[in-house]
Amino acid sequence: MSELNKIALKIISNGKGILAADESNGTMTKRLEAVNVLSTPENRLLFRETILSSESMKECIGGVILYDETIKQTTSFAKSIPELISSSGAVTGIKVDTGAKNLANSNEEKITEGLDGLRERLKKYYMLGARFTKWRAVYSISEKYPSKLAINCNAHALARYAATVQECRMVPIVEPEVLMDGDHSADTCFRKTSEVIKKCFDELILHKVDLTGIILKPNMILAGNQSKYKISNEEVSQKTLQCLKESVPNEVPGIAFLSGGQSEIEATENLNLISKNNKTKFIMTYSYGRALQQSALKVWSKNIKDIKATQNTFNHRAKMCTLAAQGKWSQELESK
Ligand code: G3H
Repeated sequence: MSELNKIALKIISNGKGILAADESNGTMTKRLEAVNVLSTPENRLLFRETILSSESMKECIGGVILYDETIKQTTSFAKSIPELISSSGAVTGIKVDTGAKNLANSNEEKITEGLDGLRERLKKYYMLGARFTKWRAVYSISEKYPSKLAINCNAHALARYAATVQECRMVPIVEPEVLMDGDHSADTCFRKTSEVIKKCFDELILHKVDLTGIILKPNMILAGNQSKYKISNEEVSQKTLQCLKESVPNEVPGIAFLSGGQSEIEATENLNLISKNNKTKFIMTYSYGRALQQSALKVWSKNIKDIKATQNTFNHRAKMCTLAAQGKWSQELESK
């Protein structure tokens, strides 16, 4: 077993999942302002150290993805954030792309940037304790999108990123996110997601990326959020599994889904059915941002000093997601 494969398995085995706490300062500011909290470095740290000190970190969370600001911060009890994460047995990760920018000659689409100087930044993050990384490509669905241009150049960037990360002895999370915005059907999402993922693997293989040392972070197969044609959770799970079975090479150890704007319960229920119906050899788990932290953030915003209330809310969500990753979640357990 390679070193990278061991790290990947440590993050996602035994029902553990990933906490995506890597909101950029811009995104975190939007989240904090939505609950009437001022977005300062101190407040961003306080929310994150509250979450990262929760009891459920030990049994539920195998890895935490951080943003550049957070990985360098020290908690109010004098531990660095990476130290706090490893004290619960989880692995520190870091978002290393520098964001999605307009794609030249297809301006309504995005290309994710961040390859320049990547190797040097990775070395610094390794020294700070990071052992895995994230890079997110985004694709929107419409009649003409995602275009071949967006599919090809984002796959190329993801592969160059993944190869460089492995060279620096870290596990790359490869995240091609096909957005749920729009009125498209689930079948359209299936077709476009398959095309996107297949192209990513063509490029990863071309760039000689060790597929046993990556984690894929895809979207689930859903109808667009404006679609008239909603499908059941069972259908979401069947279509998602079929899509991944057909487009992901067997060497990949695990798949950690993003929540992508689904509600906490929807993301939990869909993951539960995916895990229950999973006949592939891939470990299936979560790498949720909003679907793990949304309720906790609301509770925290009411009284940022009430650490217990925030942690209880986060603990419940993390436990539900970990049960779902094992196909053991139920509505009854949810409401207990
Ligand atoms: O890149 C996306 C985030 O890591 C996951 O966030 O679960 O809120 O979509 P989300």
